[in-house]
Amino acid sequence: MSTSHKAHCLILPYPVQGHINPMLQFSKRLQSKRVEITIATTKYLLKNMKELPTSVSIEAISDGYDDGGRDQAGSFVAYVTRFKEVGSDTLSQLIQKLANSGCPVNCIVYDPYLNWAVEVATKYGLVSAAFFTQNCAVDNIYYHVHKGVIKFPPTQNDKEIIIPGFSCPIEASDVPSFVFRPEAERIIEMMVNQFSNLDKVDWVLINSFYELEKEVIDYMSKIYPIKTIGPTIPSMYLDKRLHDDKEYGLSIFKPMTNECLNWLNHQPINSVVYVSFGSITNLEAEQMEELAWGLKNSNNNFLWVVRSTEESKLPKNFLEELTIEKGLVVSWCPQLQVLEHESIGCFLTHCGWNSTLEAISLGVPMVAMPQWTDQPTNAKFVKVVWEIGVRAKQDEKEIVRREVIEECIKLVIEEEKGKLIRENAKKWKEIARIVVDEGGSSDKNIEEFVSKLATIS
Ligand code: UDX
Repeated sequence: MSTSHKAHCLILPYPVQGHINPMLQFSKRLQSKRVEITIATTKYLLKNMKELPTSVSIEAISDGYDDGGRDQAGSFVAYVTRFKEVGSDTLSQLIQKLANSGCPVNCIVYDPYLNWAVEVATKYGLVSAAFFTQNCAVDNIYYHVHKGVIKFPPTQNDKEIIIPGFSCPIEASDVPSFVFRPEAERIIEMMVNQFSNLDKVDWVLINSFYELEKEVIDYMSKIYPIKTIGPTIPSMYLDKRLHDDKEYGLSIFKPMTNECLNWLNHQPINSVVYVSFGSITNLEAEQMEELAWGLKNSNNNFLWVVRSTEESKLPKNFLEELTIEKGLVVSWCPQLQVLEHESIGCFLTHCGWNSTLEAISLGVPMVAMPQWTDQPTNAKFVKVVWEIGVRAKQDEKEIVRREVIEECIKLVIEEEKGKLIRENAKKWKEIARIVVDEGGSSDKNIEEFVSKLATIS
């Protein structure tokens, strides 16, 4: 066994906020355990990020869209295809550059959307780890699509789908949105492709924790070398063991930090509805209008993130007539600082996995309004398995009406019926801290990963 070099991981995230952030937080954990880290991201993102971490080295590779970014591709499928064509070569060049500079890489940790990275790892004799940013339940569903167990079109029986590894049946409306949409055939192909060369990798890392998804993790562990390493929330919010752990949101959006925190400081404890639909999801104009009136009519004050590209969908005069006492609308906020604030009573969320995991880690109960991709599955688990929120019911036009929004907020924040939800949310917060703290399930998994890396460096 040689220990002449520190282990060096090259981290390759899919270049969107919800995928970069968890891999960055995981990188910081590895670094705190003496692993050298280089994050490879696209030239376009590197040029456009509002803030860059100083503690982690970042290098640029090309995805084929150096000037215009991902949006230029026109579709997810076109983007992933082009990234594969261009990315393999530029990733190889980066590996050679690092070797020539005396910091050779031993391991590639890659996002499975970019599964060509396994071939690059093999070419250079490196070990590889797939890093799933989604939870194990969602991965399990895609795995069973990959195996042909869940098929399109849904059959009559799919009203209640029994999936190995799940403790409860899943309805067709709970599976990720692409699975049963004929127009998403190419997307689902990409999703199942995440598993196509997974038998060649050394580890499968999952951004979740054992206690949260025991049954499904036990099931998937029999198939793949799974290690749960989450929640990937900055240490300052959980175990506080990483001392120089300044929070970085690797983002192209600029948070309105002072406005949000000053406003929250004037609100009563557990009273505010925090509303956000993440960095990508767009609402229908009709849904935006219902949400706006639902929030305005609710008994509670609200902090609502409306990205600038979504602002034109707000009802006419909504912002002009909104008083600062009732609500604050911002284009982007420091979400973790907001969720941690004592004034927050609930999180009305699209249930993107990062947002869900952040709410779990900070003990905030949820009103789930899932829109697409993995969000319906996350919402199902929030409501049925972890019992830390409610799911706002859509009507036949797939719109959640204002009265439903009002009722859900009331239930989660103040009604007796919501007491168990509020208590469960607090319970999960404590478990989330324990799992990343010394000796916790995720900490042990990261330790094991690092020890194995040390033996090959
Ligand atoms: C995407 C998908 O939509 C989601 O379903 C999948 O699980 C991950 O990839 P996104 O929609 O951006 O992600 O949602 P989410 O996963 O919740 O990530 C959003 C991130 O942006 C979170 O880390 C959140 O803290 C951050 N955020 C959001 C802010 O920092 N400020 C904001 O104002 C809003």
